[in-house]
Amino acid sequence: MAFSEYKTALVTGASSGMGWGIAERLRAKGLTVHAVGRNAEKLEELKDLCGVIPHAVDISDTAAITELVDGLDIDVLVNCAGVSRPGSILQSDAFDIDEQIDVNLRAGLHLCRLILPGMMERDSGHIVNITSMAGLYEFGGHIAYHATKAAMHTVSRQLRVDAFGRRVRVTEISPGRVETDIFARVENISSEEAKAKYFEGMEMPQVSDIADAVEYAVDTPNYVNIGMIELLPTLQVPGGLRTGKRVGDEVILTGKK
Ligand SMILES: NC(=O)c1ccc[n+]([C@@H]2O[C@H](COP(=O)([O-])OP(=O)(O)OC[C@H]3O[C@@H](n4cnc5c(N)ncnc54)[C@H](OP(=O)(O)O)[C@@H]3O)[C@@H](O)[C@H]2O)c1
Repeated sequence: MAFSEYKTALVTGASSGMGWGIAERLRAKGLTVHAVGRNAEKLEELKDLCGVIPHAVDISDTAAITELVDGLDIDVLVNCAGVSRPGSILQSDAFDIDEQIDVNLRAGLHLCRLILPGMMERDSGHIVNITSMAGLYEFGGHIAYHATKAAMHTVSRQLRVDAFGRRVRVTEISPGRVETDIFARVENISSEEAKAKYFEGMEMPQVSDIADAVEYAVDTPNYVNIGMIELLPTLQVPGGLRTGKRVGDEVILTGKK
């Protein structure tokens, strides 16, 4: 129902994976879609496929995104772009931390700062933040990844407070593993290698499952706010409990996991 109220969307991370699928779905629902990513060639491909308006922009460049949204009335903002790094803080360099904060958190906040006022004025709009189970559970991913995703979880909640009184809806979609190219980028390996390592023989959610979740949240009547959708593979379960026992220099882990 709410799709009939909305005309325009902006999707970050539209050159790949979930953002691509979400942009394509929003186009299929009749919206004008501004598709944002750095890879101009992929965005042109998406344009040819479904008619998005491509914007090859680095979203960590605040001046560039400010210019991008200037004069646009965006009804649906999807903060989907994300980067992730392997290792713990012990293996991090400065760029690992800065890039994740810039892309996963800072850009999302700036886009909300730039786009929410128009939604408030029009008394209509929807912000969808694609976070991660890493924002809610600790499993030894990169610390900055966990931190930025936890921050966007909080941002999603706080935005509802900031927009109180207007018909502006906010949905966080918190996925577990989804079959995209992100693991190839994280490990700097080929798509084929990443596929073999992370997806082959497993029952993993697809980009279309995430697009379904976005469609569901946006399509509810505007008096309904779907606050959060946690979408995990059935065969991926966070939790368990391990406790370490120190024996000499060794730590022996005991417990379920
Ligand atoms: N796949 C999973 O298992 C999984 C699980 C949980 C959460 N997530 C989250 O889901 C979201 C989508 O991930 P995905 O799996 O679809 O990953 P993906 O295929 O690697 O796509 C990441 C997107 O982010 C864009 N991006 C990265 N840095 C950018 C920058 N500086 N400026 C503009 N765009 C930038 C990339 O575009 P360019 O390269 O063209 O810049 C690309 O379109 C991310 O926020 C990710 O953290 C993924």
